[in-house]
Amino acid sequence: MKACYMRSAMAAAWAVLAMLTACSPAATPPADNAAQAGQAVADPKLAENAGESPLKAYMGHVMDRNAAQLWAWTTYVSDAQGGRYTQPRTEDDWIDAESDALTMVHLGDLLAMPGLALDDDRWAGQLARFRQAARDSAEAAEAQDFARLEAAASDMNRACVACHVTYVPEIEGPYAAMK
Ligand code: HEC
Repeated sequence: MKACYMRSAMAAAWAVLAMLTACSPAATPPADNAAQAGQAVADPKLAENAGESPLKAYMGHVMDRNAAQLWAWTTYVSDAQGGRYTQPRTEDDWIDAESDALTMVHLGDLLAMPGLALDDDRWAGQLARFRQAARDSAEAAEAQDFARLEAAASDMNRACVACHVTYVPEIEGPYAAMK
């Protein structure tokens, strides 16, 4: 995984697709129906190389990092200069915040992909909640509305936690289910 880190947030949405060719020594054509239908499929070999399932690698390396990048726009910091949000201030900041949010929208699309989507009735609902928060973030950034961006960031965090509590509660700690 180390050899194929992403240089920009805009590249992130395509990371999983790019890794199929860029990081697999010999990309083997997936043999299932989705591949035959021309859909992208996460390469099981990639996960094998990293010693992780495709979803685990995606969450740990792609989702987490890009969420942190978006949330960095709405983080409360307290230091010698006092307490404040690290909010977008310039026109360029707002464009970057919107780009970071749109990256999350695309990352949500990838979670519907065969190879990443879990074969479970609850997946679509959990994913829809996440996608809504990502879209809200992008709209808030486009409107340069900080209060809305902050609210969408909290919604997104709750969507991450809700899905984890459904499938992997242990990663959210003992009190997660109470949120
Ligand atoms: C639709 C469901 C879903 C959503 C939404 C979701 N996750 Fe996950 N996440 C999972 C599942 C399932 C796993 C466990 C994967 C595994 O271990 O195979 C996971 C695992 C993780 C892990 C652990 C990876 C590791 O190396 O063990 C991190 C970190 C993570 N997610 C971050 C996030 C963040 C941040 C968000 C929101 C911005 C998010 N996830 C949203 C389903 C989701």
